[in-house]
Amino acid sequence: MKRRMFLTLVAATTAASATLISAPVAQAADQVKIGFLVKQPEEPWFQDEWKFAEMAAKEKGFTLVKIGAPSGEKVMSAIDNLAAQKAQGFVICTPDVKLGPGIVAKAKADGLKMMTVDDRLVDGAGKPIESVPHMGISAYNIGKQVGEGIAAEIKKRGWNMADVGAIDVTYEQLPTAHDRTTGAADALVAAGFPKANIIMAPQAKTDTENAFNAANIALTKNTKFKHWVAFALNDEGVLGAVRAAEGRGFKADNMIGVGIGGSDSALNEFKKPNPTGFYGTVIISPKRHGEETSELMYAWIKDGKEPPKLTLTSGMLATRDNVAEVREKMGLASAK
Ligand code: GLA
Repeated sequence: MKRRMFLTLVAATTAASATLISAPVAQAADQVKIGFLVKQPEEPWFQDEWKFAEMAAKEKGFTLVKIGAPSGEKVMSAIDNLAAQKAQGFVICTPDVKLGPGIVAKAKADGLKMMTVDDRLVDGAGKPIESVPHMGISAYNIGKQVGEGIAAEIKKRGWNMADVGAIDVTYEQLPTAHDRTTGAADALVAAGFPKANIIMAPQAKTDTENAFNAANIALTKNTKFKHWVAFALNDEGVLGAVRAAEGRGFKADNMIGVGIGGSDSALNEFKKPNPTGFYGTVIISPKRHGEETSELMYAWIKDGKEPPKLTLTSGMLATRDNVAEVREKMGLASAK
């Protein structure tokens, strides 16, 4: 009898303590906090990524901490800051892929899970750090879509390719940028475009102003062309080239710029009453890059399910004539 009472008591105590223990555990699981660090918070692409990450946060019920981190120091202090706020992980588009080993070490020291988006970290030898889960665009193929789109439009306009110059706004220190512009140049050459007419215009930073400056130099040095086309790693780069060409009298009729992105920089251009030299953009998905990465990080923190090591997303070419349709097809129509 005594023994049975003892056992009952033990069972009751265990049950009680189990509830006591499980309550804070459940609470902690609910308090998932995820950082989302981007290198250029002023760029519409990154604002869109954040917007979609917020949607994931709302739906899953975690806290999203958005941080603009345009320099290495900012990245490092942001990671410490996230750890101090008891975040469990973060998604990052780094300002410099060479910071790779430093960022990985910092996240590890702070006990934070990390995944990269857009720009993949590299190690000291310049090789991708494959241990960090990454979502990026299929850069070379998307670049090819840009080049094919430009070539098709050159042919449609009946231009003699010998009279056309191509401004290739480059940013070689970023592998995804290199792959995108290489894909575009290769596709142009495959379509019969003279390789010698492709003018490299290195930009110092991946924004419109720096692309404008780079394109201006290319235009000044090459006065023999009757028409121009332009490509870059993103819409902002192509916009810089388009504005520089406009300054020299090459308007919509004599310029075919095709960007990559499809966020506000491109959309605003298409909304202008008269067409500009910004002919098209390969729309990529800030929804996948913002929402899906955040959801993957959430599942990793909550259920221990590690994200796939590498996800490469695709894009679709759009011009001012079919941009609404393409956005619809990519599930982006209701996002604005
Ligand atoms: C890089 C570019 C951005 C955007 C993303 C897309 O980070 O700098 O403008 O194109 O890639 O992955």
